Amino acid sequence: MDRIRIRGGNRLNGEIQISGAKNAALPLMIASLLTDDTLTLRNVPRLADVTLLMRILGNHGVDISVDGKRLGTSGIQGDTMHLTARTIVDTTAPYETVSRMRASFWVLGPLLARCGEARVSLPGGCAIGTRPVDMHIQAFENLGANVEIDQGYVVAKAPKGLRGNKISFSKVSVGATHAALMSAVLARGETVIENAAREPEISDVAECLVKMGAHIEGIGSSTLHVQGRERLHSATHEVLPDRIEAGTYAMAVAMAGGDVHLLGARTDLVGSVIDVLDRAGVSTSPTNQGLRISRNGAGLKPVEVTTEPYPGFPTDMQAQLMALMTRAEGTSTITETIFENRFMHVQELARLGADIRLNGDSAAVYGVKRLRGAEVMATDLRASVSLVIAGLAAEGETTVHRVYHLDRGFERLEKKLGACGADIERLAS
Ligand code: EPZ
Repeated sequence: MDRIRIRGGNRLNGEIQISGAKNAALPLMIASLLTDDTLTLRNVPRLADVTLLMRILGNHGVDISVDGKRLGTSGIQGDTMHLTARTIVDTTAPYETVSRMRASFWVLGPLLARCGEARVSLPGGCAIGTRPVDMHIQAFENLGANVEIDQGYVVAKAPKGLRGNKISFSKVSVGATHAALMSAVLARGETVIENAAREPEISDVAECLVKMGAHIEGIGSSTLHVQGRERLHSATHEVLPDRIEAGTYAMAVAMAGGDVHLLGARTDLVGSVIDVLDRAGVSTSPTNQGLRISRNGAGLKPVEVTTEPYPGFPTDMQAQLMALMTRAEGTSTITETIFENRFMHVQELARLGADIRLNGDSAAVYGVKRLRGAEVMATDLRASVSLVIAGLAAEGETTVHRVYHLDRGFERLEKKLGACGADIERLAS
């Protein structure tokens, strides 16, 4: 298994091109199941999760081709992907695939809406929590499907098609909102989705669905009105830039010091992260090409932050912020409200000398004067990158094991950081 070795202490200076958002690209690819025409996606990031989903969609009968595009000198812009689900050849998504990537469970909605049935393995728990799918099931049932759990599979049937209805979620869920939206676009009549997630990746998918002929009002708000259509058609859509990748590199610069321009970062999507960095004493300035981050000399101030659904501070940035706050001058409090078990990075950060104490869903992070390099283990995608951030400021050498987690969600991370002066390399196994 590959490892990443970092020798800490270098400042970061230069430019980093932000890639297309993983968490938009995956549901956008899944949306191709909704039509027998071709969906063309631009700016698709080159990630292990994207490659895996290509294989999964292929099993359902989606024909996929990719042309790489190399733009400018500052980095690869991403791929253009053509997806055509002319005929759905299989409406089952087996345990082997869904257990490898949770988002593949999201094929259930489009398969059910288009074919009237789907059988998809329950995804099971993962390193960040139990992650149930009860609200997905609620959405399908509200739309008239009969849903049963059989031998670890969710079996959903609607032989006469789905019917529009009200879907009112008791809590905010990105996945359940995708499920409701991608089913309702092919249901008969109107669906109203209340307490919908407002994450920008939901809006990106909704905008793509509109280009495919769907009728959706309220995009970006917590109430979505969908008028079902008999069929959707071809469209071309560009994946929005990854706000979590942008926020992560912003934290990396804040940690290492220096001055980096994040090209293509959408500042309107990272408001909560900019706000926290400002409070920590890191300088952030929006530019017409993206976002500029700098920290020169001054110490980091501690912060108090709680993760929340968008537009609040993202759970997907919690580990990176915690890494940063290990070096703050004082005590920070970071509270995780979205997932119950998303603190796996704490014990690994401790191996680098961090002083963090957990109390239920809160972590008290006591800033230390120095971190020291060590061997550490990646446990999930965002936890892994928090260890890289810590390694950038640790004295000596840090080796991050199990970097396949990183490859799931960060495109060419070591190249992007290395080009800005980080001493970082991938060691092949
Ligand atoms: C999406 O996961 C993201 N994944 C996650 O990113 C992200 O952390 C999460 O949203 C929150 O922003 C993708 O977009 C592919 P949820 P999702 O449903 O949809 C509970 C990353 O690192 N819940 O919004 O699975 C759930 O347990 C990943 O890129 C139910 O109770 O998250 C959690 O507590 C990790 N019942 C809360 O809702 C349900 O039926 C929010 O989860 C569904 C969810």
